[in-house]
Amino acid sequence: MNQQPFILAIESSCDDTSIAVLKGKRVLSNVVASQLIHEDFGGVVPELASRAHMQNILPVYLKALNVANVQANQLNAIAFTNGPGLMGALLVGVSFAKSLSIALNIPLIDVNHIHAHVLAHLIEEDNHQNPNFPFLCLTVSGGHTQIVKVNAADDFEIIGKTIDDAAGEAFDKIAKLLNLPYPGGPVLDKLAQMGDGSRFTFSDPRNGFLDFSFSGLKTSVLYFLQKEIQKNSNFIHENLNDICASVQKTIVNALINQLIKAANSTKIKAVAIAGGVSANSELRKQLNELNQKGFDVYVPSFQFCTDNAAMIGIVGYFKFLNRNFCNINILPQAKF
Ligand code: KG4
Ligand code: ZN
Repeated sequence: MNQQPFILAIESSCDDTSIAVLKGKRVLSNVVASQLIHEDFGGVVPELASRAHMQNILPVYLKALNVANVQANQLNAIAFTNGPGLMGALLVGVSFAKSLSIALNIPLIDVNHIHAHVLAHLIEEDNHQNPNFPFLCLTVSGGHTQIVKVNAADDFEIIGKTIDDAAGEAFDKIAKLLNLPYPGGPVLDKLAQMGDGSRFTFSDPRNGFLDFSFSGLKTSVLYFLQKEIQKNSNFIHENLNDICASVQKTIVNALINQLIKAANSTKIKAVAIAGGVSANSELRKQLNELNQKGFDVYVPSFQFCTDNAAMIGIVGYFKFLNRNFCNINILPQAKF
């Protein structure tokens, strides 16, 4: 085939139903239906996520084709998230992908969700620079915290990771201790911008050489709040912005310090970030400062940072080039 392939990509690992159409490395459409139902429960409810994927997937598919102005019979392959993620949620996307592959008689491509967050950096966009190999990618979201050395499109080395909670999970759980609505990360960020981040000190979420541990931080914030509330029942209310700013600074300092250490030890100055937490204002500020210290910093467009199908499509594109297809009997994997 001398023409660029049309890849349809499906993402359904958590609480966003997303379908994208790519032509080669360019995104023609990237439709995301976010599930608001979980807000009432303070977290993602797996059973409700599966049901919402079932309701959303067909309209999202039709819209993705429509926006891309592509007919189903022009598609060359179907890429889908095979894990990690919530099993019931994954099953919806995988079953839909298999049905399409049989109906259209085109190959299936299984995609690892975390690889997709990383390769989102290779999506081609106007006025946007892509990193060259090798580069480091700090993937920080509600489910993942990793520093990955990306040697090639199919060659990843995880050189740092969390041993318990993910960074976004830490933001959300601490926001919950402060009685903020779910998902707490963006709300905490907003309040932190009005606070003093040096006011309170919490335990350091770094662990070992390049790893993280965020559950200790959550516990240290919990004990701190319990102690202060005993002295002043209005403590959270009166100090909310400073608590948020101090928590945010603790998390972001740890992320940036480990990233710098990883860059120094691998001698790679090209650093990229991915995942929902890359929207964080303090993280962006500190990354900007790295840019001025001789690092090359890459931040993908926001729509490709949070969970989306375009990033599944770019992995699908590289696997398509290698004819790296999967069998119709493939089963999703909740954990890798
Ligand atoms: O990548 P993502 O959309 O979904 C997952 O794969 O998890 O990331 C969602 C996570 C949530 O934990 C959310 O609180 C966090 O990203 N997040 C933020 C901000 N925006 C989103 N955390 C801190 N500051 C933000 N501005
Ligand atoms: Zn994700």
